[in-house]
Amino acid sequence: MNTVPSQHARVLSGMRPTGRLHLGHYHGVLKNWVELQHEYDCYFFVADWHALTTHYDDPSIIQESVWDMVIDWLAAGVNHGEAKLFIQSMVPEHAELHLLLSMITPLGWLERVPSYKDQQEKLKERDLATYGFLGYPLLQAADILIYKAGMVPVGEDQVAHVELTREVARRFNHIYGREPGFEQAAEQAVKKMGKKNAKLFNRYRKAYQEQGDQEALEAARALLEGQQNIGVADRERLFGYLEGGGRLILAEPQPLLTHASKMPGLDGQKMSKSYGNTIALRDEPEVIENALRTMPTDTSRVRRNDPGDPKKCPVWQFHLVYSDDSTKEWVQEGCRSAGIGCVECKQPVINAVLQELKPIQERAREFEEQPELVRSIIAEGCEEARDQAQETMEEVRQAMGLIYR
Ligand code: TRP
Ligand code: SF4
Repeated sequence: MNTVPSQHARVLSGMRPTGRLHLGHYHGVLKNWVELQHEYDCYFFVADWHALTTHYDDPSIIQESVWDMVIDWLAAGVNHGEAKLFIQSMVPEHAELHLLLSMITPLGWLERVPSYKDQQEKLKERDLATYGFLGYPLLQAADILIYKAGMVPVGEDQVAHVELTREVARRFNHIYGREPGFEQAAEQAVKKMGKKNAKLFNRYRKAYQEQGDQEALEAARALLEGQQNIGVADRERLFGYLEGGGRLILAEPQPLLTHASKMPGLDGQKMSKSYGNTIALRDEPEVIENALRTMPTDTSRVRRNDPGDPKKCPVWQFHLVYSDDSTKEWVQEGCRSAGIGCVECKQPVINAVLQELKPIQERAREFEEQPELVRSIIAEGCEEARDQAQETMEEVRQAMGLIYR
């Protein structure tokens, strides 16, 4: 597996600007990001170009949605001090890498991505027979590869895109990592590690290449990672040399599967804007309370003393997310025996949702009142991301013979 281990600790993920976020986003994605940011070097970005691949005829929604979404991220606890937050189109290098990768990407790879046909069928009202839409998974590949991210938190539906990214990286390294004089350059680089380490490295390499010894491979990688006096290019050469290929310029990422959110919508289906069953993070408490109070319950509970079955009730789904064991027992018992009423049953859920959202809404208000602060957080994130992206592009241009100095 061709990964550049030193970049393993980097996480990248993007979200399309779809406007204000709801509890489904919070439980499905944002809570996960908040955890990851403490552990890894995280890059989170607003995928505005991705939104254009499907909403090219309606760009005004995108602009507005971008800032609303960023405010919701910050309100949910995604922290610009820990993670880099930026907007895709403000790092135009993504587009350059997308273009260059398009040169080597077989059409069939894109046509075979499941989301291509699925989305065309699903979004029938839109004309998605465009070049941009076909290429969108490759744009995603560029998003990931430009930061040499090792891990990409995505949902099930996006795993195929990460797989495509891996294939494109492999193909790129295969074609452009084979610089003339590669072997000699690699041997020179080995020497730079010093006699002892060089000997060790060569022994591991032999054990891996001749006997497929995985432990030796791991040990050699660890050894390379610990080297202080070799530069980026040499490191890439050595990672490739170790495995018997060319330079590994682009790193193959792994998907970090975020288990599908268990967050139900107000009607018991998955919470989603297209079903109109959401609770937005910034909905007014009264609106939330009212929405929960009026949400449907098990239809067999027509009168107060008709017993019900929590399994047939969307409110129970909320208890599964929010309630402790004793409350859940109280619901099970009370529902089946008609000992409690539905209004009563909903109250702990209402309390829990409002309590969860209170600090989020307070933070959101602070950011709403300071649009310049939000702008500057993004400007700073863009700058940091861009430095990284430019570094990768230098290497990519060099590998492809596009440096004219
Ligand atoms: N395609 C993703 C989506 O629709 C968003 C996205 C764009 C993304 N680029 C990415 C996710 C890179 C992870 C990594 O949800
Ligand atoms: Fe649903 Fe609770 Fe009413 Fe039972 S008592 S039907 S679980 S709301």
